[in-house]
Amino acid sequence: MHFMSDNAAPVPAEVLAAMTEAAPHPAAPYGNDPLTARAEGLMREFFAAPEAAVRLVATGTAANALSLATLTAPWQTIFAHRTAHVEEDECGAPEFFSCGARLTLIDGEHGRIAPESLAAAIAVTGKRGVHGVQRGPVTLTNATEAGTVYQPGEIARIGGIARRHGLPLHLDGARIANALVHTGSSAADLTWRAGVTIASFGGTKLGVPGVEAVLLFDPDLAWEFDLRRKRAGHLVSRHVYLAAQIVALMKDDLWRRLAEAANAAAAALAARLGALSHVRLWHPVEANMVFAEWPRALHRRLRAAGAQYYMWPVDAPLDEGGDDEPIGARLVTSWATREEEVDRFCRILEAG
Ligand SMILES: Cc1ncc(COP(=O)(O)O)c(C=O)c1O
Repeated sequence: MHFMSDNAAPVPAEVLAAMTEAAPHPAAPYGNDPLTARAEGLMREFFAAPEAAVRLVATGTAANALSLATLTAPWQTIFAHRTAHVEEDECGAPEFFSCGARLTLIDGEHGRIAPESLAAAIAVTGKRGVHGVQRGPVTLTNATEAGTVYQPGEIARIGGIARRHGLPLHLDGARIANALVHTGSSAADLTWRAGVTIASFGGTKLGVPGVEAVLLFDPDLAWEFDLRRKRAGHLVSRHVYLAAQIVALMKDDLWRRLAEAANAAAAALAARLGALSHVRLWHPVEANMVFAEWPRALHRRLRAAGAQYYMWPVDAPLDEGGDDEPIGARLVTSWATREEEVDRFCRILEAG
């Protein structure tokens, strides 16, 4: 019963095979090989963005931090959801790589930025002349950290607010594949057509060893991104293996099959858990994450049976406190989640 994270899932055989086949001969390093050019072309096609510059990095933190640094002056502030990965889980990388820019945290239900809160935060920023931080980019995550998904219209609304103030819009797409499957919309509709300036397409959460493609829809930003990527130590020398992962994900729509399987497993979990009176789901389940709470005693039972998942918050006490007290959990599914795992997990909770 593995619900720890999607990046704990094994790598699909097709991807490993593609990496093995990628470079039977020496390949030019640093992205100067033909497979990297192919991966970039595939990403441009996928996003229907023929002018976009595409850059590959090995981690989602690098994709976010380097993209935001490219869009942010040191004296600006980045508008982000309160629970955004850039705020909670990147050890200050966006602030570090932007040479000290600030984050302004925005509220909004179920992990989505509330447009009115964003508009209010932008309105009060930058009014103190040289004494205060200035307005910088807006960043959002799709699928969100709460396992919900922004529809294209919701992104366009946020994009409209950013545009009215002349601010760029960044999208953390570590799980954009899950969002695409949920919305049924095109990658273009979820990004540049909705006003996104830079987006990432995450491979790691789908199941590959580690690649994120950064789409710079304004190609004039590419040179600065290139310099920042190199300076940060994120220009991967054996680039051909990053490229092979993207090419494998695009082949025969493997990305879609992986994301569909992960989303379907989360939906199956949510359907069973949502039917139980002693379980409360915290958010709509729209991608591959389920947040829910149930009595502490049942957490102990699940743990004893070998279930793996994070308590939410991660330091919620399992050993002290009443048996009946509800404690939160985060369950993440992946392409490799099996029906039997979902079934066994739910049976333990159903037994009450
Ligand atoms: C929404 C989101 N963005 C970015 C990242 C960062 O990815 P990495 O751990 O590869 O740096 C994660 C990883 O958990 C994530 O969930």
